[in-house]
Amino acid sequence: MTIHIGAAPGQIAETVLMPGDPYRARWAAETFLDGAELVNEVRGMLGFTGTYRGNRVSIQGSGMGMPSLSIYANELIRDYGVKTLIRVGSIGGMQPQVKVRDVIIAMTCTTVATPSSTIFRDLNYSPCADYGLLEAAVAATRKRDVGVHVGGIYSSDTFYDERPDLNEQMTRHGILGVEMEAAELYTLAARHGVRALGIMTVSDHLQTGEALPSDQREKTFGDMIEIALEAAFA
Ligand code: ADE
Repeated sequence: MTIHIGAAPGQIAETVLMPGDPYRARWAAETFLDGAELVNEVRGMLGFTGTYRGNRVSIQGSGMGMPSLSIYANELIRDYGVKTLIRVGSIGGMQPQVKVRDVIIAMTCTTVATPSSTIFRDLNYSPCADYGLLEAAVAATRKRDVGVHVGGIYSSDTFYDERPDLNEQMTRHGILGVEMEAAELYTLAARHGVRALGIMTVSDHLQTGEALPSDQREKTFGDMIEIALEAAFA
């Protein structure tokens, strides 16, 4: 047990999918895993372990934002020996070719700050995805009828941004979308020598104002989970 995860040693698999929303963790575990068991419910941040095509896998909620994700990712890596972490979540589109329902696979993440900024100080560290996972995820998208974009994203500290010019600059520099977790996940994975990837579904679009109705989120979220599971065990 750790401060934030109640699972006993050995109850969490070496591969973990991390949705922001703990209820999505439950839905994904019940829908895609065999024999899924609840292994964590501390603070309602649900985590499950089961198997996918015979491979042991956990799905643990990360909460919203990098400080929350940092707590869970640190404890998973340092205390439970997790070796592969894949963020599965939503992202706001920032380019005209990126449509609501598309999937974005993040090669790298731009930030203003992350929980790791205190150690980097004046260094502009570039968090980047594990290439093997990224390649496997791209391959897994090819047999699906889903729009896919691979490139840089923006991991923001704020959902309600008081500096719209920042989003404009991100769009101007080819950033595909904005979310709030991946940069810290990639940074922690690099620090601890494990694999990380972010696969996100476009739930809203900053330029068009379009947003995916909640009843349609399940199907697109399902594609993303299957892409993540296939990539993890490719
Ligand atoms: N996640 C999904 N949409 C987002 C947005 N517009 N801003 C930040 N994070 C998001």
